[in-house]
Amino acid sequence: MTTIMTTPTLATPSTLRDDLVNWVRPRVALVIDTDIDTRRICTDILDRQGWRVHVSTSADEGVDRSRIVNPDFIILDGSLRGPGNRDVIEYFRSVPATELIPIIMLNSDADSDSIKRGLAAGADIVLTKPLDPEEFVLRVDSLSRLHRIWRELKNERGVLGEQTRILSSLLELSALLARTEDLDTILAKTIATAAEITLCRRISVMLPNDDQTDLFIAAAQGINERIRSNVRLRVGESIAGRVFVTGRPIILNTQEDAAEYLDDRDLRLFNGLPMMCTPLCASERVIGVLNMTDRFHERPFSDNELSFLNLLTNCTASAIQNVRTRKARDEARDSIVIALAKLAEHRDDDTGKHLDRVTIFSLKLAESLRQTPHYETQIDDEFLWNLKRAAPLHDIGKVAIPDAILLKPGRLTDAEMIVMRTHARVGAETVRSLLDRTPDSMFLKMAEDIAVAHHEWFDGSGYPNGLSGAEIPLSARILALADVYDALRSERVYKRGISHRKSVEIIAEESGSHFDPEIVKAFLTLEAEFERLARDLSD
Ligand code: C2E
Ligand code: SIN
Ligand code: SIN
Ligand code: FE
Repeated sequence: MTTIMTTPTLATPSTLRDDLVNWVRPRVALVIDTDIDTRRICTDILDRQGWRVHVSTSADEGVDRSRIVNPDFIILDGSLRGPGNRDVIEYFRSVPATELIPIIMLNSDADSDSIKRGLAAGADIVLTKPLDPEEFVLRVDSLSRLHRIWRELKNERGVLGEQTRILSSLLELSALLARTEDLDTILAKTIATAAEITLCRRISVMLPNDDQTDLFIAAAQGINERIRSNVRLRVGESIAGRVFVTGRPIILNTQEDAAEYLDDRDLRLFNGLPMMCTPLCASERVIGVLNMTDRFHERPFSDNELSFLNLLTNCTASAIQNVRTRKARDEARDSIVIALAKLAEHRDDDTGKHLDRVTIFSLKLAESLRQTPHYETQIDDEFLWNLKRAAPLHDIGKVAIPDAILLKPGRLTDAEMIVMRTHARVGAETVRSLLDRTPDSMFLKMAEDIAVAHHEWFDGSGYPNGLSGAEIPLSARILALADVYDALRSERVYKRGISHRKSVEIIAEESGSHFDPEIVKAFLTLEAEFERLARDLSD
């Protein structure tokens, strides 16, 4: 790595490139996991990639081992406790020898909280078991390359040349990509990083339409809005279309290069030379392209920049894939669940607007409670997001209630009321059965809480469990008030609707008995808005 360490500016292309690809000593990985299958899978994959792999079956052994084998990479079961019962990742991060080593934490549960905990403890990437081998290889590869170069640059004091700048941008990008699930954020950060690396001012990411026939601009900088929304290229045609098909980058530095390639459409994207178009590849598949042009000082692109851009586009592509699979799965599941809830609701409310109103009322209450010292720590953006999706499911258990009871025009007998009340428990069981299939869904966990506890009373006299006060999940306490306000205002088969004034009175009176007093307080500050919403969203 002499070139990098002694040259403050860009290294000559071939040297850096070779250094990126061929390491001087074999790359050493340490796998620490109690599970034999996981150890075997990791070892197989890494072995095939030319790694020298060491395994440990416990945290203490792993820590000892790390001192001996001096690994370039650690793969670690996130649930292990280390020396002195410390978090092992925290331990590795606190020791100079392992402080900067890339750590992939393996998690047996896809719950976003435990992923965040892993990242906070110092893992570079958290992957969920069972491992996707392709993703695993990609992640190990790009992460280890970045870290290796980064470390060597850091060790050579005083070298703060171009590579350092580029690598720190790349590290920052990969950290962000590991955390985000938002496509626009991924694309924006990719473009910003490409700009930092190449000093290009005109950059775009193009993605295909659903049919994979055309490419359009999904995100861009330095391209005016009219061009941005109008450019559409056939897959296979023009520069971007060809890169998308072949998976090979096209770099045009000179007029001669350009004469061979550019057509009119390209000129709208690339307003000058040099220009580069490089594929976004995930698991050998091209999922889009990155275009760069209008370069500062018009400096030609070099091979080693291409290497850096490869790292960049690999990170971006795998992050996009991740979001897509997760999004597709989440969307499919959510739409099924919501459809189920609407169906259930349809039996005793043919417009289904009750669900919309209760959801909006709940969100208003939660947003207002968030401003109070009492609840500000419990209610964050995620809580609101979950509540918005969970609230419509509160009465899903009514699917199990016979028409003769649910639709009875008069008062229910005690026996009928007992049956009616089972809707809370049945609802929770219904949600739980969905939850078993998708354990990572926080909103379904909240939906379960709400379904079972939305008829609990603050003083303990509600059903089905007679919980009181803070034993009742906050989400259910909020929903209870929203639900009752709407039930009071609405006409039901068994009763007429009553006025806003009267409803406010009833709720205020039941503060501390039926409802959480803090939530009633919030309601009373919002009641005018509730009245307006009830009018605007009436059946
Ligand atoms: P729902 O109609 O959506 O009512 C939800 C909750 O709003 C009720 O839970 C109750 O706490 C409150 N609520 C509704 N109407 C009134 C009212 O006129 N006065 C007061 N103070 N509170 C009211 P609850 O009682 O556990 O009932 C759960 C569900 O059972 C109701 O949902 C409804 O579907 C059914 N239900 C309750 N009572 C009767 C009834 O007499 N006849 C029929 N057919 N269904 C009933
Ligand atoms: C990395 O280089 O950190 C892996 C890229 C990714 O997060 O997808
Ligand atoms: C009812 O049984 O509908 C009235 C209960 C309540 O006071 O909310
Ligand atoms: Fe209910």
